[in-house]
Amino acid sequence: MLSYILLLCVALVNAYSDPGTCSGSCWAHDPNVIQRKSDGSFFRFSTGGGIHISSASTIEGPWTDLGYALPGGSIVTVGDASNLWAPDVHYVDGTYYMYYASSALGSRNSTIGVASSTTLEVGSWTDHGEIGVTSSTSDDYNAIDPNWITIGDASYLQFGSYWQGIFQVEMTDSLTSSGDSYTNLAYNASGNHDIEAAFMFEYEDYYYLTYSSGTAQGYTTSLPAQGDEYRIVVCRSTTGTGDFVDQDGTACTNSGGTTVLASHDYVYGPGGQGILDHPVYGLIVYYHYADKDIGLAVDQYQFGWNNLTWTDGWPVVA
Ligand SMILES: *[C@@H]1O[C@H](CO)[C@@H](O)[C@H](O)[C@H]1NC(C)=O
Ligand SMILES: *[C@@H]1O[C@H](CO)[C@@H](O)[C@H](O)[C@H]1NC(C)=O
Ligand SMILES: *[C@@H]1O[C@H](CO)[C@@H](O)[C@H](O)[C@H]1NC(C)=O
Repeated sequence: MLSYILLLCVALVNAYSDPGTCSGSCWAHDPNVIQRKSDGSFFRFSTGGGIHISSASTIEGPWTDLGYALPGGSIVTVGDASNLWAPDVHYVDGTYYMYYASSALGSRNSTIGVASSTTLEVGSWTDHGEIGVTSSTSDDYNAIDPNWITIGDASYLQFGSYWQGIFQVEMTDSLTSSGDSYTNLAYNASGNHDIEAAFMFEYEDYYYLTYSSGTAQGYTTSLPAQGDEYRIVVCRSTTGTGDFVDQDGTACTNSGGTTVLASHDYVYGPGGQGILDHPVYGLIVYYHYADKDIGLAVDQYQFGWNNLTWTDGWPVVA
């Protein structure tokens, strides 16, 4: 009986499995990972004084730091073009496109730009500047945290942080310029509306919208109330262009959202996530987290990943 109770306690405490192995350079912030078509190697892009690139032959590493995607910054004229954020990289017809944000912490003077490369390597990136999603202090959205997806014959960009939440805009030329009709996909009416970092993917009959909820950083200055630190949340929709709901059926434009991964054990504040279709493991979720044994500063954040399993059509970090 006692051992049964102990087992139950362990099961409750360890609701999530530990992150998969990472060796080599495991620092990451807002990671975006893509597998290179030519050789299957993994490239990881992070926010860190610009868009930082690392690569590895397996998701486990060893990861090697390569340098910056746009070392001279961007040609965009809004935000801080020398300190780009939140990379989102996609492969289309032989070219890799990287969306990025130019902003400043806590500011809505923001814009989203795009660069392209055929190899992903440092020195190979050409900047194309703004795509047309720009915000200022009078807007109810913040033009950061881009995430591109194709749905049917069209392509879309998800973006947003805080204020009115996460939005979607249809691209007009599919890759480098956007329309100007923005649809709200997710909004948290409570607290300081702190949802951001959208990443959408398609799986079987649904489009899944993941985002990060809570306080992303500043943990060394003051810890948020327990549960208010970053965590990864999911909503789903059959169209991908609206009507996202959580597992309870609550609309995600009305504070809905089901937690996929939150702090546990030594893992604190996981977020800035993405989903990768690993050739052997299937869909995995990757993210950054503060490791309580290493330190809680942004420049100490670690790269984490877990296999995803599925329960009743919802992704689970077992
Ligand atoms: C992921 O799943 C594969 C099997 O598909 C397994 O070998 C591997 O250990 C799993 N990794 C983690 C970190 O759970
Ligand atoms: C945003 O830009 C406007 C116009 O350039 C400027 O007045 C304002 O101070 C900026 N706000 C922030 C928070 O950077
Ligand atoms: C919405 O914000 C409240 C207050 O911060 C928080 O308790 C809640 O978990 C958030 N919900 C989601 C789905 O992010």
